[in-house]
Amino acid sequence: MDFIPVNEPLLDGNEKAYLNRCIDTGWISSEGPFVKEFEERFAAHVGRKYAIAVCNGTAALDTAVEALDIGPGDEVILPAFTIISCIAQIIRSGATPVLVDSDLQTWNMDVTQIESKITPRTKAIMVVHIYGLPVDMDPVLALAAKYGLKIIEDAAEVHGQTYHGKPCGSFGEISTFSFYPNKHITTGEGGMIATDCEALAEKCRSLRNLCFLPKKRFVHERLGWNFRMTNLQAALGLAQLERIDEFAARKRSMGKRYQELLKDLPGFQTPLAETPYATNIFWVYGLVLPEESTWTADQAMAWLADKGIGCRPFFYPMHLQPVFQNMGLFRGQSFPVAEHLAEKGFYIPSGLALREEQMQRVADQLLAFATEHLA
Ligand SMILES: Cc1ncc(COP(=O)(O)O)c(C=O)c1O
Repeated sequence: MDFIPVNEPLLDGNEKAYLNRCIDTGWISSEGPFVKEFEERFAAHVGRKYAIAVCNGTAALDTAVEALDIGPGDEVILPAFTIISCIAQIIRSGATPVLVDSDLQTWNMDVTQIESKITPRTKAIMVVHIYGLPVDMDPVLALAAKYGLKIIEDAAEVHGQTYHGKPCGSFGEISTFSFYPNKHITTGEGGMIATDCEALAEKCRSLRNLCFLPKKRFVHERLGWNFRMTNLQAALGLAQLERIDEFAARKRSMGKRYQELLKDLPGFQTPLAETPYATNIFWVYGLVLPEESTWTADQAMAWLADKGIGCRPFFYPMHLQPVFQNMGLFRGQSFPVAEHLAEKGFYIPSGLALREEQMQRVADQLLAFATEHLA
């Protein structure tokens, strides 16, 4: 019995041809021509004026936070239920992260909780589109306008998704993406920042390149990072971007197929297929065990691994992270929905290379598990 991995990318387009071109021409660093081409095409794809390629999605977020001059005295509102990449630079900069809980249906930040968290020190709201459905952006945009706040949009998981028809990654001051291999398009490791603001774009370009002064190299007026993307990564990215519509359609049809296969699955919460503002793009197909079940996600994943099915846990909430508890952050705070999702949620194989017969095997095992233990 073959093990079904949680993710396998599809690399059967122009990837090899473009990578060969890098090797044949010797252009392998960030100076190579694919980087600029990937940036331009990506910007056009998400409807932004500028895109800045970086070495991963975490670096994109770090750069975005720094480019907005977020620092001591500032507060940034973000979901408790997300990846540590979102919060890391907020904390390192000396700013204060302010967490909100999740919506139980969409698993995204509960936008109705944001306004009560806004103070005179709030500088930005970081929205994170999680697992395939976008955050309900209209209320967030309205709050940002009312209180004069910046929006950082983490679109790492939703390339090809839209909110009311407008591309995810085109909202707010600045957006970020990841191209890790489990994303809709991959560069191995990689990320992108997108913005419509020329000054912000320039700042991000400088920050990703150690803030070398253009006129006097090796002189620096600000601290940056080496977050550059290589021409090799951009070659992969360009080949992948050529197929983004196909990949997005494939993800949606895989999600629908799982919905059909699992329609009689007892107990589990399955992803919401539709909201008034978007059709789920099913970046991953998540499942949540019932609250009353004695099974945790870790136990269910171990049961499935034993049957040859690879799964991954949901995010672990930021307020419970030992690293932040040790810093004295989030003391006494609780976010019950985020905690429930972390304890009971996991996702099943969802990669672009997944085949019909593998999906059927996953579904059969899940039905067996649920019938035995949850029904
Ligand atoms: C929502 C979200 N933001 C940021 C990241 C970080 O991206 P990377 O792994 O490329 O650093 C991820 C990563 O997987 C993510 O899911």
